[in-house]
Formats: sequence, structure tokens, C-alpha cells
Amino acid sequence: MSESFPATRLRRLRRTPAIRRLFKEVDVGLEHLVQPYFVVNGKGVQRETSPGSGLWQVSGDVLAEEVQQLHRAGVGGVMLFGVPDAKWSTGPLEPALREYLAAIELTRKVVPDAVIMADVCLCSLAETGHCGVVEEHRVVNDATLPVLAEMAVLLAKAGVDFVCPSDMMDGRVGAIRAALDEAKCQDVGIVSYAIKMASALYGPFRAAASSAPSFGDRASYQMPAHNRREALRELALDVDEGADLLLVKPALSNLDLIRDARERTQHPLVAYQVSGEYAMVRAAADKGLLDFERLMTELLVSMRRAGADLIITYDARRRAGR
Ligand code: PBG
Ligand code: ZN
Repeated sequence: MSESFPATRLRRLRRTPAIRRLFKEVDVGLEHLVQPYFVVNGKGVQRETSPGSGLWQVSGDVLAEEVQQLHRAGVGGVMLFGVPDAKWSTGPLEPALREYLAAIELTRKVVPDAVIMADVCLCSLAETGHCGVVEEHRVVNDATLPVLAEMAVLLAKAGVDFVCPSDMMDGRVGAIRAALDEAKCQDVGIVSYAIKMASALYGPFRAAASSAPSFGDRASYQMPAHNRREALRELALDVDEGADLLLVKPALSNLDLIRDARERTQHPLVAYQVSGEYAMVRAAADKGLLDFERLMTELLVSMRRAGADLIITYDARRRAGR
């Protein structure tokens, strides 16, 4: 028996590119990625909020074309945020959403089998910029639920595959599920923003979605980043209420919670690499401090390794060669 030392040589698994490829435990393919779009009124609108931000505002006609191209390239899906000109304050949502819903209908017609997800929240629609209904400068929970449910049904009827409540009101997943079923939209799924932290990383998004709160902040409904046990309760609650997929965001600062969610549920998990995470990488690369492509891949891999099935990222479109 030879007395060789070291007995274990892990570098054998890393010796050549082909060997390394063979033993990769996770990978990031286009099929795992979801590209967000901000859908605005008008025609022929296609603007990135700033060069390389990945935050695209598009009108319905451009959206249909974009989704078709991404779908053909093999991108997993798209996540839509409606940003109408006319803001909603009270009464039915449909007038404010009309042009946005038409954009979804058109896209569904042009690309019948693309996966379309749509955000359900009030912040980009409401004058207040808050995710829920505001009464006397407070975001009230229960009065918000029927409005969110109304929005989810409108989106479902326009043709989305998944509605994605990002508001963080208590009970909204259950309320939305009941409303969808009642409206005979049983086949439309719910991607629940189960763990969504109050975060400084949403800054670029709020500019693109014109959704910054007009007063105060979102701390009374989004989660404090300090609380892991509370995050696990959020997760359990959304499972109970009937969520089909569970989402954690921001992704990079919550990889531990993605892993926790992976170990505690059997649901598909979604990581949202938010606008500020993307902006940090972009800014550092623009300064010549690091390599954009390499860092981006490294970060996306870490999210998959933590347990995410899907990743919502502003880099999906660029990775698809657009
Ligand atoms: C709004 C919403 C936000 C994001 C997704 N949905 C911003 C916020 O809560 O203020 C952030 C996404 C991003 O930064 O990319 N409900
Ligand atoms: Zn919101």
C-alpha cells in the first residue's frame, strides 16, 4: 500500500476544462432566467433608463416583439410591470390599466407559448406610490386585498401565466387565489414575493416604474433585513395561502434565506436579482474595477447554488444577445 500524501486530491476534478465541465453541480442557462419589462403607454417606445441599466421601458407593440425574440432565444420568461400615464386613486382599476392590458393581450397573441408573469401591486399605479391603499397617511392592509385581487383577475384575463404579488400585505395570496378561482382563472398561478426585504437596492427600479412613495417609506409592509425567523413565517404563510412559486428578494443579500426556503419547501423558488444589485455590478465594471460578464455569471451561479430554480434578472435580455 502506498503511503501517498495528500490522500484526497480535489484538484483532480479541476484539471482540465472538460473535466470541470463534467462535474459542474449547477449551471445558469437562459431557460432559468426571466427578464423584467416596464410597460408604458404609446407606440414604438423602447428606452433603457440609462445605458446598460437593463431597465427597459417599452410600449405594447415593442413588448410583443421583445417577448417573441427572447422566447425564440430560449429565455425562460418575462416579468411585466405596468407603468400607466394616468394614475389610479380610487374606484375600478381597469381604466388606468387599459392600455397595459391591451399590451399583454397583444403579446399573448403574438407569442402564444411564451411564459408571461406580471407584477401585482399598486405602487406604480397609485398616486401615493405606495403598494397598498392609503387612508390617512397609512397603508391599510385589508382594504388593499380586494384591489390586488381585482388587478390579478384583470391580468389573468389578459393572458398572463402567473400573477406576482409584490406588495407584502398580509393575506393577499389567499385573496388573489380565491378571486382567480372565482373568475374561472384556475390555471393562472401565483408567484408570491414571500420574502421581500425593505431595501436600498430598489432605487433604480423606482425611477423606471415611477413608483417611489410620495411620503414615508415601505418599512411598515416590507420585511426588515434583520429577521430570519420572520422571513420563514412569511414563507410558510404564502405556502398555506396557495402560492405556486416562492420568491426571495433581493437575491444577493439573502442567499441564506434562499437556502432556508429550499430546505423547507418543495415549491419552485425564484430569486430576484434586483435593480440595485445589477447597478452595483454595472457601476463597478464601468469604473474598470472588475469584469462585468464574469462577475454576473458568478452571482447568478451563487443564486442557483443557494437553491433558486429561476432568477429574475435585468441581464437575461443581454445574455440572449439582444
Ligand atoms: C414594487 C416592486 C419593487 C421591486 C419589485 N416590485 C420596488 C419596491 O418595492 O419599491 C423592486 C425590483 C427591483 O429593484 O429590481 N412592489
Ligand atoms: Zn409595490
